Amino acid sequence: MTNDIQALKTEITGQIGGAKDLKALDDVRVNVLGKKGRITDLMKTLGGMDPEERKTKGQALNALKDEIAALIKRQESALKKQELDGRLATETIDISLSPRPEVMGHIHPISQTIEELTAIFADMGFSVAEGPDIEDDFHNFTALNFPPGHPAREMQDTFFLPDDPEEQGEYAKKLLRTHTSAVQIRHMQGNKPPHKIICFGRTYRSDYDMTHTPMFHQMEGLVIDKATHMGHLKGCLMDFVRAYFGIDDLPVRFRPSFFPFVEPGAEVDIGCSRKEGGLRLGGNKDGSVDGWMEILGCGMVHPKVLMNCGLDPDEYQGFAFGMGIERMAMLKYGIPDLRTFYESDLRWLRHYGFSPLERPNNATGVKA
Ligand code: DAH
Repeated sequence: MTNDIQALKTEITGQIGGAKDLKALDDVRVNVLGKKGRITDLMKTLGGMDPEERKTKGQALNALKDEIAALIKRQESALKKQELDGRLATETIDISLSPRPEVMGHIHPISQTIEELTAIFADMGFSVAEGPDIEDDFHNFTALNFPPGHPAREMQDTFFLPDDPEEQGEYAKKLLRTHTSAVQIRHMQGNKPPHKIICFGRTYRSDYDMTHTPMFHQMEGLVIDKATHMGHLKGCLMDFVRAYFGIDDLPVRFRPSFFPFVEPGAEVDIGCSRKEGGLRLGGNKDGSVDGWMEILGCGMVHPKVLMNCGLDPDEYQGFAFGMGIERMAMLKYGIPDLRTFYESDLRWLRHYGFSPLERPNNATGVKA
């Protein structure tokens, strides 16, 4: 390398090392490698040299250019790292701020109830399944043994979407699901028996009064295997309602009822008393009962439903149940009006909600 190139290299290397920030470094780069930069200018002189000189000078200049470019790159990453370290050191966030009870959020009674229901059924060996809010006519009605024109469809009027041009027949008719029972179908179609699942989710109907809102929540349960019978249904649901309401001897009654997707079908009522002012779940202090509250619907899964899901009813059988989550929360926590669940009134939430710091729940775990 000729002396002048060596001297230039020393000079530029010094300038690169001296660049204290990215802006200064970029100035050096433009000065040296830019269109009118010093190395660029020197390259331009090559044209006027004789071939021998051009060859050696050209090689030396190219090597210098590459070396300088590499040095600039290295300095650039060092400066970037320095800048980031500086920001990390100064821009710290104090996450140790203690909670302020006056502004702390509360767990909504719907979430709390879902957690309680999950805990009880998980103890009994159920797992949690999911399904879509936007269903098709087949999963929401037909497969559940409400064929088109069936009068039971009338009780579940809902919101229909425009037909899906990509789908055919009953899959094309889309609607907001009227119940979580549709998840039974999806689960049985997509999985091999035996089945033992619960499912939670939003459901929709065109209703609005003190006990109905257009959107509400349901929980569904399904148990299918080769030997499950009505006795299992009764035992499972009696254990469940007693655990949920926390009353070991809570009177429970099974009242025959009709749902197209079960046979026989029943509704489960719990004993209560209205004598001593207000509603007393579990009945009077002396154990007598003077009223019944309806809690949920249930039954043995209809053979047609099993067949619609590809199961042989001579081999498989089982039970299903469904309940409204708001209703379960209203009864347990004494909430009088369903509509208030969705008004987003903080005073309501502070009153009926649950502190994440006090209640054990799935999100925070059990605190000592
Ligand atoms: N899907 C019913 C409804 O929304 C509730 C129900 C009743 C679900 C009986 C079930 C059942 O699984 O077996 O009114």
